Amino acid sequence: MAFPTWWREPEAHSRDHRRRGVGRALLAALIEACAAQGFRQMIAVIGDSTKQAASIGLHEALGFHHVGILADVGFKQGRWLDSVLMQRTLGPGASTSP
Ligand SMILES: CC(C)(COP(=O)(O)OP(=O)(O)OC[C@H]1O[C@@H](n2cnc3c(N)ncnc32)[C@H](O)[C@@H]1OP(=O)(O)O)[C@@H](O)C(=O)NCCC(=O)NCCS
Repeated sequence: MAFPTWWREPEAHSRDHRRRGVGRALLAALIEACAAQGFRQMIAVIGDSTKQAASIGLHEALGFHHVGILADVGFKQGRWLDSVLMQRTLGPGASTSP
């Protein structure tokens, strides 16, 4: 089963409140909810690897691994941006039939 839902990190997540476990709690809850619905894989598309170390680190911390980079697929503020693709198995993953 594919994963059709978009999650967007809260942009209101102020710098003063970062690195206190909020991102981990939110993403962990989303992973759990998706697994409970029977989804088998979760894919993260993270724009601009040069500025999203925190987001990439958060996904790594919650079990996502790198599966690729889409080069130059966005354009913002005068420069081309990449997107980092990360993936995480949910529940039994591919170990059982759908
Ligand atoms: C990404 C973000 C949501 C993480 O939220 P957070 O509440 O700070 O993260 P947490 O405190 O839950 O951290 C969980 C784990 O993620 C990883 N992590 C968090 N910040 C990191 C950073 N700056 N660099 C590397 N890894 C990081 C760590 O593994 C961390 O675990 P640890 O603190 O035990 O080492 C937050 O930094 C943020 O909002 N960034 C701005 C993103 C943004 O602007 N998005 C809009 C794009 S259009």
